[in-house]
Amino acid sequence: MKVTAFVFHPNIEKSRVNKRLIEEINEEVETRLLYEIYPDGVIDVTKEQNILEQTDRIIIQFPMYWYSSPALLKEWQDKVLTYGWAYGSNGNSLRNKELVLAVTPGASISQYSHEGSFKYKVTELLRPFQATSNLIGTRFIKPFIADGMQQSDNELSLTAQQYKDYIMSSDLDELEAYE
Ligand SMILES: Cc1cc2nc3c(=O)[nH]c(=O)nc-3n(C[C@H](O)[C@H](O)[C@H](O)COP(=O)(O)O)c2cc1C
Repeated sequence: MKVTAFVFHPNIEKSRVNKRLIEEINEEVETRLLYEIYPDGVIDVTKEQNILEQTDRIIIQFPMYWYSSPALLKEWQDKVLTYGWAYGSNGNSLRNKELVLAVTPGASISQYSHEGSFKYKVTELLRPFQATSNLIGTRFIKPFIADGMQQSDNELSLTAQQYKDYIMSSDLDELEAYE
């Protein structure tokens, strides 16, 4: 199974959490730092589509920004997921591939609940990705959510190991529609 990680972090040099996660996985899977590949934000759509076609499990890793993602991920979706390729009557290129989001909120995960200060679970905030996945026919796997900012270096190392194990696992469960 070919696994590819698409990482959207605007300043990976200054990153602590995403950098540590990448260090753990980049010897196992092709890890693409999109902000470094496209510093001017102009995405090579054909290249991205070719890489996606050759991938069985698509990992999309990013820090949570404003309860969503950094802007380049949105641009990447807008440009790469074209009609007739990703969706529409002949747009079947990604069908049945696995889609795994790996998200790092800065705040504690305990704040992301109906009772918590942010009112919504992280999986609820990720619904636009899940709805997109429904449209393009990918299997929307339970996301890997890591509040690594809240963790010590040792805890973060353990999280990074768990991340690698998760994305290399042979059997991943899908997220339910309203989970
Ligand atoms: C522009 C911006 C927006 C952010 N929005 C959120 C947010 O909505 N929720 C949250 O929990 N953390 C938020 N954060 C914190 C980041 O998610 C956190 O710093 C990041 O995940 C840590 O990973 P890193 O060390 O790889 O940068 C935001 C940070 C920035 C710079």
